[in-house]
Amino acid sequence: MRTGALIPEEAGAMPSVRLSDDGSALVIIDQTLLPNETKHLTLRGREELFEAIRQLRVRGAPAIGIFAAYAIYVLANGYAERDFDAFYAKFSDDKAYLDSSRPTAVNLRRQLDRMDACVRQSADKSVPEIVSSLREEAFVVHREDISMCRAISEYGLELISDGDGILTHCNAGPLATSRYGTGLGALLLGAERGMKLREYCDETRPLLQGARLTTFELMNAGIDTTLICDNMASIVMREGKINAVFIGCDRVAKNGDTANKIGSSGAAILARHYGIPFYVFCPSSTIDPKCETGRDIEIELRDPDEIRSKFYSQPMAPDGVGCYNPAFDVTDAELITAIVTERGICRAPYGESLKRVWSSTHEDTSRA
Ligand code: MRU
Repeated sequence: MRTGALIPEEAGAMPSVRLSDDGSALVIIDQTLLPNETKHLTLRGREELFEAIRQLRVRGAPAIGIFAAYAIYVLANGYAERDFDAFYAKFSDDKAYLDSSRPTAVNLRRQLDRMDACVRQSADKSVPEIVSSLREEAFVVHREDISMCRAISEYGLELISDGDGILTHCNAGPLATSRYGTGLGALLLGAERGMKLREYCDETRPLLQGARLTTFELMNAGIDTTLICDNMASIVMREGKINAVFIGCDRVAKNGDTANKIGSSGAAILARHYGIPFYVFCPSSTIDPKCETGRDIEIELRDPDEIRSKFYSQPMAPDGVGCYNPAFDVTDAELITAIVTERGICRAPYGESLKRVWSSTHEDTSRA
């Protein structure tokens, strides 16, 4: 997979994250403004790169990982230091800073670690050569994500039939990844191949990734799309409208417990009640062998105003009310029908199936 080629823009489709043509900045679509405005931001400063992740201008576990890889390259490209130790001290400081922007998605740390390994492996080279390796590595990260999404989408298609109704939660489409996405990949690929699917999108309170982003992506692809409030999932399942639930994922523990957008575990519990399969989609880079179970996954807590006042013309709760705003929850492995990766479909017992996927990826990476 190692190649020097740039990431080609698809005809008519702007990637959610890319390096600027002169390599000095990142260009992203500001996801906080969608679907009302498609605005591109050009980012190069340390603080604005951090803020873009923190404020979810760029979001979705794989997209954050790709962003982080380009971001650390852009920062390193601007260092004046030419001595390796001074360069590496600055690099390590920026890496730790970007890593502290959001805690739950493992892809952020993983891709930063990968860039760090790239620097350490090049310690005998000149700083300009190291920076050039970083640029190359960031492109590899991005290209790998594109092919991973494609493979995940192909596996996802094995799980659905023409005419199916699919419930999604949050957004795991091209904006959150590259090209097809993970949780939405099979739906987009299926539509390209002429399948007629009925898609139900949970709005995904409080930041409305489902209402704002998933509906936007699916409708652009011509898919029959219906938006529901999160608390309507039970009735659409009961009415027989849903054949499967598809979600993305921010971190998978060794035992198959998965962290994803808040509300995912509720959807899984409902799906179990109604006998509907619940599928999790993620690249193998989202598996975290350092997490034994979901209890080891740090859950991000966010600003209470996201619940109290965001998206409302005036606050919709009394001033001073206490709010608890976890951004993610953990779905127990026993509620998950399968975890779909680019290396195949993992089923219980997840301890074994995930280990096989993780080991095969790891072998490939070390050979690359
Ligand atoms: O807070 P967000 O919007 O970054 O949360 C994103 C999710 O929970 C996605 O489902 C997950 O990152 C997978 S994206 C392919």
